[in-house]
Amino acid sequence: MQFSERISRISVSSTAAVVQKAEKLRASGTDLVDFGAGEPDFPTPERIKQAAIEALSRNLTKYTATGGIAELRRAVVERHAKDFGSAYAPEECLITVGGKQAIFEAIAATVNHGDEVILPSPYWVSFLDIINYAGGKAVILPLREEENFTLRAEDVEKLLSPKTKLIIVNSPNNPTGGVVPPEEMEKLLALARRRGVLLMSDECYCHFLYDGRKPFSLGSSGEREHLILVGSLSKTYAMTGWRVGFALGSQKLLANMLKLQSHSTSNPTSFAQWGALEALTGPQDSVRLMREEYERRRNRIVAGLRAIPGLQCTQPAGAFYVYPNAAHYLNQNGLGNVTALAEQLLEKAGVALVPGPAFGTEAHFRISYATSQERIDEGLRRLKAFFASL
Ligand SMILES: Cc1ncc(COP(=O)(O)O)c(C=O)c1O
Repeated sequence: MQFSERISRISVSSTAAVVQKAEKLRASGTDLVDFGAGEPDFPTPERIKQAAIEALSRNLTKYTATGGIAELRRAVVERHAKDFGSAYAPEECLITVGGKQAIFEAIAATVNHGDEVILPSPYWVSFLDIINYAGGKAVILPLREEENFTLRAEDVEKLLSPKTKLIIVNSPNNPTGGVVPPEEMEKLLALARRRGVLLMSDECYCHFLYDGRKPFSLGSSGEREHLILVGSLSKTYAMTGWRVGFALGSQKLLANMLKLQSHSTSNPTSFAQWGALEALTGPQDSVRLMREEYERRRNRIVAGLRAIPGLQCTQPAGAFYVYPNAAHYLNQNGLGNVTALAEQLLEKAGVALVPGPAFGTEAHFRISYATSQERIDEGLRRLKAFFASL
């Protein structure tokens, strides 16, 4: 069987690969500290689960409108307006099967063969594969670790060419936890407008900001033509398995994304949408409680990692990841590269994490601290012992 040229341009998400490997070890009885999975350890709040159960009881189990139930589209724009001061109409919202589908559809609907897409690195692994699948060319912008991986519009501008179609920004960032300051986001949008390109802002972690930072979205700018926002309920409400996300943008772009959705998944699962409606319209204290807990965990894990001699660790301002640099250890004891280091950590120390090449850098690894403080402490203890033994 000869597979398509298109499919050969991409590979299985390496974060998914780590999760699978960790799962196998766990099944064989290994006591694993799992820093690999990029998902909240909290259960979905009860009120959201009850709303979905009620939807099932009411037989809301049929196809819905492809772009999502009207109630949910309205709830998304109203929540976004409340949280960020935006003013989207329900027709400017598309409900998708997770934020990932919105990203896939937006790239597929806009990027032609040979078009360039500016992608700051470290980047979330799927951006690159989706760009490649669409036939686009990712133009990588390496961010400086010394500057906390902060994205600057002037650096993006230097990479723009007549072939640039799209700029991708993800703040708070997976995998670094870096946050782009609002002034810089505004400069990026001004640049996109001036140069006639589209800016995609992935806001999947927008509620997890620390040290008193205020939630911010470019949605408040009123821009439609040059901006597409991607959001998700996965992290905000601990709903990763529900698969509900959304896009906010111009009706023209959304109509083209909807075409793809209508021929692939059709609507996101009906009762998951009813659960999502409760998530967005009910009390929001679960979001605050999760944010506060993530901030405590961040403080604990960063302090612990910084106490390991030779590891460098920037201070993440959001999301639930840290991205330490292990360059100091890589050429010791024949370890060679960070992927080999991650494999040894898994096999010898029982710690699962994702090596940096998945995110475009060679000497880092990503730790997801969406796990209990007790597991964080155990993981730190194992990391410390492992690095001391090298
Ligand atoms: C940066 C980023 N964007 C988008 C997503 C997609 O999440 P979902 O499809 O679950 O909404 C993820 C998930 O890990 C992510 O890390």
